Amino acid sequence: MTHADKPQVGLDALGIAVPSLTLELTKLAAARGVEPGKFLDGLGVTRMSIPPLDEDTVTLAARAGKQALEQGGIDPNDIGLLVVGTETAVDHSKPVASYVQGLLGLSKACRVFETKHACYGATAGLQNALDWIRAGSNDGKKALVIGADIARYGLKTPGEPTQGAGAVAMVLSEAPRLVAFDRMVGTYANDVLDFWRPLYSKDAVVDGHYSVGCYLDALEGAYRAYREKAERASATGATATSDAKHAFFSDRFAAIAYHVPYGKMATKAHRHLRGIDGDSAATTYAEQVAPSLVYPRQVGNIYTGSLYLALASLLAEDPRDLAGQSIGMFSYGSGSCAEFWSGTVQLGAQARVRSSGWAKLIESQRRLEMPEYEEILNAREAIDNRPHQPHVEGGGAEARYLGVQEHRRMYSSPTSG
Ligand code: CAA
Repeated sequence: MTHADKPQVGLDALGIAVPSLTLELTKLAAARGVEPGKFLDGLGVTRMSIPPLDEDTVTLAARAGKQALEQGGIDPNDIGLLVVGTETAVDHSKPVASYVQGLLGLSKACRVFETKHACYGATAGLQNALDWIRAGSNDGKKALVIGADIARYGLKTPGEPTQGAGAVAMVLSEAPRLVAFDRMVGTYANDVLDFWRPLYSKDAVVDGHYSVGCYLDALEGAYRAYREKAERASATGATATSDAKHAFFSDRFAAIAYHVPYGKMATKAHRHLRGIDGDSAATTYAEQVAPSLVYPRQVGNIYTGSLYLALASLLAEDPRDLAGQSIGMFSYGSGSCAEFWSGTVQLGAQARVRSSGWAKLIESQRRLEMPEYEEILNAREAIDNRPHQPHVEGGGAEARYLGVQEHRRMYSSPTSG
């Protein structure tokens, strides 16, 4: 099979869910006695999404999944694989994905499971789903992969301004209308303790400055692995891409979407990547990275979904016509595992995603004052001891978490209202 004959597999539809509440980081800075510039410019974040108490990982995942199916006009019965990547699961045994299967009314012939590897969890799901389709095991069906999380650090800790919550859902198919992903992937894994969440804690534990170094080491490992594979393939004529016109290797990417724990981390990552290429000036940030940070800067860290929120932002907010252009993707999960891979933006993809109204959705979040923010964070500590609430706070159109009854998590169904 020649390069041109290889079947295209990739992203067919995208959905995003963010909670209804948000905190302006200027308010957090004032309350913590910090210069606002440290959060806005030093971390590159303007707001962070905060879930109300009737929102959890399941409701975020279900909402994003529903939007992806609707955006793509996809029948739930056409989904043959559902994977939810999360590091803020709701149960030690039952996967978030099973709740989502029920809430979305997916087929009982669908393979359903959850993946965990910190922020890499959704990428593990995505790469496996792509291979499931490429191998022909999908039997004509599509995969739904969702990254959903609530990023929570303790009040008044250095990690506090890098919280967030949300979900991104991706339908993957053999006729992708948004991005066709290349098979070539550079992988790097290393046993480090940079960020983790012990079983007894709802808050993450992080060795913050060390974690930044681990992220950059992993980027270097994954990117070098990808680059070596690409250069080998190009030397043997196995790829159609000509490298002659590029001064630096990464010039071949119109844009690169990075995992975004906070906006500035992507800036550091890009500088590092260009340095590996030999471009010490790293002047390509504005065109190669900035459009992918528009949503992450307003939503905060959503862990497994962060890279894919950056991808959504890139497709919706980049003013250039990206059709037919190559983009790079970098996923990092603490602990650690990282991957660098690439894809080609499909004709009409940007118009499709722009009709989803994500900018409006993110802009419409209600701004919290500090006392309400702290009250919600403290109450979330005991959220699973919450007795069943028969009344739905957020309205009946979407799934809401209603608390626990006889050890069972209860949700309002989006269809029954
Ligand atoms: N105006 C502008 N910039 C300012 C400023 C001001 N007034 N004051 C400080 N700054 C700058 C600093 O110079 C610094 O910039 P550089 O990083 O370019 O040096 C930046 O603001 C941050 O300042 P500090 O390093 O002093 O901040 P900190 O000690 O409070 O910690 C942090 C920052 C380590 C990122 C912390 O927020 C944290 O632990 N976050 C959680 C961990 C994390 O997100 N790690 C990322 C890699 S791991 C990963 O990616 C997995 C994941 O999702 C968690």
